[in-house]
Amino acid sequence: MSNAPTLADITGQLEALEADAAAAIADAADAAALEQLRIDLLGKKGKLSGVLGAMGKLPGDQRPLVGQRANVLKAQVQGLLQERQTNLKQAAMEARIASETIDITLPASYRPPGHRHPLLSTTDDIVDIFCGLGYRVVEGPDIETDHYNFSALNIPEDHPARDMQDTFYLPGERLLRTHTSPVQIRHLEANPPPVRVIAPGRVYRRDAVDATHSPVFHQVEVLAIDEGLDFSHLRGTVTEFLRTFFGDLPVRFRASYFPFTEPSAEVDVQWRGRWLEVMGCGMVDPAVLEGMGLDPERWSGFAAGLGVERFCMVRHGIDDIRRLFTSDLRFLEQF
Ligand code: DAH
Repeated sequence: MSNAPTLADITGQLEALEADAAAAIADAADAAALEQLRIDLLGKKGKLSGVLGAMGKLPGDQRPLVGQRANVLKAQVQGLLQERQTNLKQAAMEARIASETIDITLPASYRPPGHRHPLLSTTDDIVDIFCGLGYRVVEGPDIETDHYNFSALNIPEDHPARDMQDTFYLPGERLLRTHTSPVQIRHLEANPPPVRVIAPGRVYRRDAVDATHSPVFHQVEVLAIDEGLDFSHLRGTVTEFLRTFFGDLPVRFRASYFPFTEPSAEVDVQWRGRWLEVMGCGMVDPAVLEGMGLDPERWSGFAAGLGVERFCMVRHGIDDIRRLFTSDLRFLEQF
């Protein structure tokens, strides 16, 4: 039996197996490769079993030595497999963390804060002042009828006042309102006096665009109807409003004409040394009250109308109305 393996042969094989295993385990790239190694090394048909197959040919007293050695080897290989697996998992986790890192030192993307358009903040300020005087805000439609925009305001079809308020006409007798005054009529139709309202809104005229004209602009309408209102109430209210808005400036009333007020006035403020016309007003014409079914012997009132663009431009020293409508941030950011 010269080719029967000796104890030294088997021990040598076990040592070689151990060295190979250690190298292969260290090289294993992932969990699947490790599992394959485990099967190749320690499985039923694995290398360890192959070596131990020869054990039966050893003398009985040597077998336990081989068995012990094999057990130590097996435990060692298992330990290496376990350790490599832990390392691989750890490395995978570290790679993942590295790839998912968020750099919290990067500056956030900048979102410039917005703010109200100067026309809106001007409207808000005007509304606030009148609310403080006990007025409430009402609104009417941009698309009006000839009746509300003109006839009910004492502007019949052939009246020359219509020339100054040419507008955009729509099918079916409708038009884009030329002023906020029709809201007076709509409000009185639905609300018996006493009334105290303001009506801010967009209005339209067939105007060529230039530094002071725009086919679309904004007005605020004022209306107060009660028993015993006279011109002093109108004058006091308008003066109080203008002084609150512009500061303590000289205010003057000039006789004027509007079809829906009698008497009528235009109001100027002295702004930087010049008289500037800022609004129209007057006592509501008895013909308008009668048209609403109100007895002019009992009810009287005043009305006023102003252009928001004008107020905004005067307040901020803006010289061209078009700047208010072009949405140029270099301009708007100043307010
Ligand atoms: N509606 C007039 C316009 O747009 C402005 C106006 C004048 C309104 C006198 C009024 C008023 O209420 O009393 O030209």
